[in-house]
Amino acid sequence: MHSDQDIQGQGAEHGDYRDAVYELPERALDLAWLRRYLPLQYAGCRALELGCGSGYWTQYLAPLASRYLALDPSPTALERAKLRPGVERVAFRAGGAEALPADERFDAVFAGLYFSHVPKQHRDELLARLHGGLSGGARVIFIDNSELQCREYPLVAYDDAGNGYQQRPTGDGGQRRVLKNFPNETELRLLLGRHGVGEMAFLRREHFWLLEYRLPDWH
Ligand SMILES: C[S@@+](CC[C@H](N)C(=O)[O-])C[C@H]1O[C@@H](n2cnc3c(N)ncnc32)[C@H](O)[C@@H]1O
Repeated sequence: MHSDQDIQGQGAEHGDYRDAVYELPERALDLAWLRRYLPLQYAGCRALELGCGSGYWTQYLAPLASRYLALDPSPTALERAKLRPGVERVAFRAGGAEALPADERFDAVFAGLYFSHVPKQHRDELLARLHGGLSGGARVIFIDNSELQCREYPLVAYDDAGNGYQQRPTGDGGQRRVLKNFPNETELRLLLGRHGVGEMAFLRREHFWLLEYRLPDWH
């Protein structure tokens, strides 16, 4: 399984958990749509959120869910997430997919700006582990940045596995490399096909993409 260091993104290693990524005015329309669409998909569900970070999405998705477990390996991020409104019933736990409870099955999963940071060579392992904690028919939704994000942070390098790397400012004048992939629909279809998922929806909005699928009922 990938280590916690493998997925970086929103400054996890720097404890920088501003909502800046969600506050850019040009993203407002996409976000308004996502904030309307997503919570309804988790209504009444036993939901799991991977890489919840500082809880931007947790605050919108958790209130309608019947049970909500939010995971993130960063204790700093979790402390911030706990301060969000509407998360009083959320169970927060430090860890990634390896921290899924062995004695519980979920029927809905959400991960925001997470999949793009998973190294390509670890995607199968992630899905196998994740699906292992879900009931048959469970709904899975990943959302992530569209390639437009590269206008701000161009991809500056690729590794042997084909993972892209962006150069991003650290906030203290430095620079750091962040693994960031922009999967296309075919790539995702092939990946899910290897895990017995035949149907998926891939929606591209201007600033975000959304992948949604259900596990087979017999899972
Ligand atoms: C780009 S942030 C997104 C945070 C939040 N979902 C959001 O949209 O604001 C990626 C998050 O994944 C977390 N992360 C890092 N490694 C992880 C792993 N192995 N499993 C799950 N989450 C991980 C980081 O701590 C970070 O909070």
